[in-house]
Amino acid sequence: MTRRIDIALAGLGNVGRGFLKILETKEARLATQYGLALRVVAVADSSGLAVAADGFDPRGLRLHKEAGQRVADLPTFCPGMGLGDFLAQPDSCQMLLEASPVQLTDGEPGLGYVRSALTAGVSCVLANKGPLVLAFHELHRLAAANGAGLAFSATVCGALPVVNIGRRDLIAADVSLLRGILNSTSNFVLDEMVGGRSYGEALAEAQRRGIAEADPSLDVEGWDTANKLTILANSFLGVEVTLADVAVEGITAITAEELAAQRAQGNVIKLVAEARPTENGYRLSVAPLPLPADDFLAGCGGWEMGVEIHSDLYGRMFYKIWEREPLPTAAAMLRDVVGLVENHPAFTGNER
Ligand SMILES: NC(=O)c1ccc[n+]([C@@H]2O[C@H](COP(=O)([O-])OP(=O)(O)OC[C@H]3O[C@@H](n4cnc5c(N)ncnc54)[C@H](OP(=O)(O)O)[C@@H]3O)[C@@H](O)[C@H]2O)c1
Repeated sequence: MTRRIDIALAGLGNVGRGFLKILETKEARLATQYGLALRVVAVADSSGLAVAADGFDPRGLRLHKEAGQRVADLPTFCPGMGLGDFLAQPDSCQMLLEASPVQLTDGEPGLGYVRSALTAGVSCVLANKGPLVLAFHELHRLAAANGAGLAFSATVCGALPVVNIGRRDLIAADVSLLRGILNSTSNFVLDEMVGGRSYGEALAEAQRRGIAEADPSLDVEGWDTANKLTILANSFLGVEVTLADVAVEGITAITAEELAAQRAQGNVIKLVAEARPTENGYRLSVAPLPLPADDFLAGCGGWEMGVEIHSDLYGRMFYKIWEREPLPTAAAMLRDVVGLVENHPAFTGNER
């Protein structure tokens, strides 16, 4: 017996198409091992919404976008109707997967989509950090009030399950230090500059690989790292913070000469996110720092990201990942989908 889960997918870019690719290749595995048939019944890109009550063919949809076509070119395009309208309809679907671009002014379109979904009791899985950075606690209250699940392990360090580790595996811990390299684009750019490549060339490669943000200034000016630190702090450091609580400095002012001078002293410059306890919370910062070569974070090179967490109960933990393409982030969304279906009362029917 397989259980059908109807999904609306916002964003058919690198991550959205990666998710479709996973549905193509893992359909049988999801059915046999997890008893699940995931069906995409609504999709939206910048051109609008299309709905297919019987489900889209994931491969056909992916190839359609890869050929440069838009959702508005699909035969089931819904002119005049947005994804928010679809989600507000009764029994529209069971999950929204949100992979539209980060937008930090008002969080749109992602924030509106997630609000519409949660209000209608539709569970949400996010890769887009924007809605959480702007409305973390509001969205959690909305999810709880409507009995919907809300999962977002894909928002921080792609497939590295930092959010899950913090929420699930650090029970009752007081975290005395959290530090990390949370953005692989800026890490790659710094490493390539040490190797003699220009800043512009390295950034262009990250964009070509689909790893950089749609607006790459978010990566190199430190905002993507600050977004992730804000999400981590709200998720498991026990504080309610916003982006305004993070001191942010990016890597745009770092020169090849500075990197070489630090290297001659045995140091590596890394864009480091830190949360350090204060009397009434945590001091949150993002800044390029010279680290001794034997520091754990100094050893996270190129396409790697890493996180170090010290706590009173669980010792010192060190995690890192190598991720050079968006597929692992799409896989993190799949992990969240299965996690919600297997554990959240919206799907298990159990009372919390
Ligand atoms: N790429 C990564 O490795 C990675 C890792 C972690 C998290 N993320 C996050 O995942 C999200 C997606 O990243 P990405 O790399 O896939 O971005 P992307 O390639 O730029 O794709 C963004 C998609 O969103 C669509 N879109 C734009 N406006 C929309 C609207 N109003 N409604 C619905 N869809 C809309 C775009 O439409 P068009 O196709 O018409 O342009 C495009 O399909 C971002 O929030 C990003 O921060 C990405």
